[in-house]
Amino acid sequence: MTIKIEHLNLKDHKVALDNPIFKLVAEAASEMGLDCYVIGGFVRDYLLARGIPKDIDIVAVGSGIALAEKVALKFQGRPRVSVFKNFGTAMIRHKGLELEFVGARKESYQRDSRKPIVENGTLEDDQKRRDFTINTMAISLNATDYGNLIDPFDGQNDLKNKLIRTPLDPNITYSDDPLRMMRAIRFATQLEFEIHIESLKSIANNKDRIKIISGERIVDELHKILECDKPSVGFSLLHKTGLLPYILPELVALEGIEEIEGQRHKDNFWHTLEVVDNIAKTTDNLWLRWAALLHDIGKAPTKKFHKKIGWTFHGHEFVGSKMVYKLFKRLHMPLNEKMKFVQKMVLMSSRPVILSEDFITDSAVRRLVFDAGDHVDDLMTLCEADITTKNPKKQKKYKHNFKVVRQKIEEVEARDHVRNFQPPISGEEIMKAFDLEPSKNIGIIKEAIKEAILEGEIPNEHEAAFALMLKKGSELGLLPKTDKYRTSSKN
Ligand code: CTP
Repeated sequence: MTIKIEHLNLKDHKVALDNPIFKLVAEAASEMGLDCYVIGGFVRDYLLARGIPKDIDIVAVGSGIALAEKVALKFQGRPRVSVFKNFGTAMIRHKGLELEFVGARKESYQRDSRKPIVENGTLEDDQKRRDFTINTMAISLNATDYGNLIDPFDGQNDLKNKLIRTPLDPNITYSDDPLRMMRAIRFATQLEFEIHIESLKSIANNKDRIKIISGERIVDELHKILECDKPSVGFSLLHKTGLLPYILPELVALEGIEEIEGQRHKDNFWHTLEVVDNIAKTTDNLWLRWAALLHDIGKAPTKKFHKKIGWTFHGHEFVGSKMVYKLFKRLHMPLNEKMKFVQKMVLMSSRPVILSEDFITDSAVRRLVFDAGDHVDDLMTLCEADITTKNPKKQKKYKHNFKVVRQKIEEVEARDHVRNFQPPISGEEIMKAFDLEPSKNIGIIKEAIKEAILEGEIPNEHEAAFALMLKKGSELGLLPKTDKYRTSSKN
């Protein structure tokens, strides 16, 4: 869900600390004689008046791990402290909250890795090394100034002006941690903020550094962009800054309109972004949104011009679904049922369209439902989002056609139940009826029954299927075992 500013909570920051756990953290820090602050996303989202966030980052001027261990002793039930020694951080899960503790750091990064060389620092050193001014703000948990907002980079003003700006020279901030280039774009999309012009230029200059970021972390940001109300904002920014070719070259390949002998095709990159925005209005299913993003990727490698018919993209759905696998693998995305779902959507993405352009027959609808199974609604949602024509008449016509397809799907499904097709006659029953060992003929008979049901030649019922089995068996030269036949037809 996209975060939008309703009003800013810029006045009483103590309210952010209403939860009694903050008093316990403050108590533990004071007993240890160290200062500590709530910082980062918690403060930003509180100021954005989005309620009190569940993720809480605490920075200690001293050891964050030691503070976490002390705090855990004060919490009811003494929750476990997960320590990440390499990062110098510790985490406690308590009453639905996730508290992350870190020591204030002054950091310099090695050029070829995200791993920083860590040195202890002051609060301001720590704030300086963070990504954006809106993420640098801290609220004090110390007795002397409990609840005060510490904002040395004027993050409040950037919140008011809806601006993503780095606290240091953007070249330093981005080159220190290139993932931040994607974070800038993601926050701009989520919050509907602008990225400061110097930052944008710097992202374009440092784009090459995205190569050192792991696929998993890039995908986390892509997921967050896709989950926004208007994902196209993020993808346009990825495109504009030149990051997209490093991340999703398959999409970049869709850009452009070619014209030969006065025949043009649409720009499938910008079309795709429209489809993603459309689908974001109708579903929160992240993987369906991925399918919308990738539904046309097979069009670049299959594009051809024919003198008589113009531009074609024959088989792009099949090629595209194969490309989904390679893309998921490259980005270290899960190669599981989520990927299979995206592949299936891409593969079937033109089926309802072809269907709606023609006279809609029951058998074509039955086949669609049979092939799409439980995902038939998702497929229809994708196809509806794919309507991007600016011609109001055509827009109306296509929408109407899909409405008719949806109605037909319901009618056919209510009558024929082919959504999760279970053959009305099992292989065992066929074997029993003809006294057969497992063999090819059983498959042939089963296929003939399935085809007859999908074509509407017989209803999806046992009796009709049994009769067809006998007929098909005799065509194959099989003799029914009459006695057994009688027993099985009674069953
Ligand atoms: N941070 C940073 N550079 C990064 C990641 C994080 O400077 N590459 C800092 C920011 O100050 C950020 C804080 O660490 O606010 C916490 O990071 P994280 O939990 O990843 O993000 P949030 O800002 O909390 O936002 P979200 O939960 O939406 O990712």
